[in-house]
Amino acid sequence: MTVHFVGAGPGAADLITLRGRDLIAACPVCLYAGSLVPTALLEHCPDGAEIVNTAPMSLDGIMEVIASAHARGLDVVRLHSGDLSIWSAMGEQLRRLRALGIPYDVTPGVPAFSAAAAVLENELTLPGVAQSVVLTRTSGRASAMPEGETLANFAKTGATLAIHLSVHVLERVVEELTPEYGADCPVAVVWRATWPDQRIVRATLGTLQASVGEEMARTALILVGPALAAEGFDESQLYAGDYDRRFRPVGTEPRFPEGSE
Ligand SMILES: C[S@@+](CC[C@H](N)C(=O)[O-])C[C@H]1O[C@@H](n2cnc3c(N)ncnc32)[C@H](O)[C@@H]1O
Repeated sequence: MTVHFVGAGPGAADLITLRGRDLIAACPVCLYAGSLVPTALLEHCPDGAEIVNTAPMSLDGIMEVIASAHARGLDVVRLHSGDLSIWSAMGEQLRRLRALGIPYDVTPGVPAFSAAAAVLENELTLPGVAQSVVLTRTSGRASAMPEGETLANFAKTGATLAIHLSVHVLERVVEELTPEYGADCPVAVVWRATWPDQRIVRATLGTLQASVGEEMARTALILVGPALAAEGFDESQLYAGDYDRRFRPVGTEPRFPEGSE
């Protein structure tokens, strides 16, 4: 028996890996985080599967369901929105499973920040503009931010910021970022990226608050940084005609002659 943690993607039911879909289809028990996981994914569950929405449950309650499946030798698929590596509460579940000696594995999913970048049709790392993406959030009731992980500190890098769980404190976000990025810095807010009711707002730090409606209070990502609207950026060397590289030797004395390892 194994607990299969699967990243369920950002919202659209077809943005799950084939492996994730097959695991849902193979497991007689399915636990899903109902606040964000699309219920259309549950259609892959086998007939008669035990399907549990964990949104109203405590960690102890979730562990009881898993332990019961374990005792009966039933595989479990555990669905969390987006990818499991960020804000999924997977870490604490894995720790409990290790303590109980229950086997598990992890299948990645499409995270909300890459879904948002896709619907915006933006590359978040442009040559000479931004080469880092900071995945962050502001402090909430459930999780305080470690000292040092402030928006003001991240803003000093000039990187592209993907700010989660924070659209309800937009005023604070704008206040902390404006001194470093400037009021004309491009911003995009993507609400419910890839869901049928998805909404996109493009603005600047200076105009953002007036542009985002109150209905976008949850499940939105704030992307900030010059890469969101840059046009005059350099082309990358990767595809430059005169750039000698392993997969395309150029010149009379290429660094990696054809046939070399
Ligand atoms: C608890 S975190 C889950 C993050 C998730 N594990 C991931 O990989 O993206 C929830 C936050 O992610 C962002 N989020 C999740 N799904 C989203 C979507 N479809 N569109 C925009 N933001 C989303 C929002 O900031 C939301 O408040």
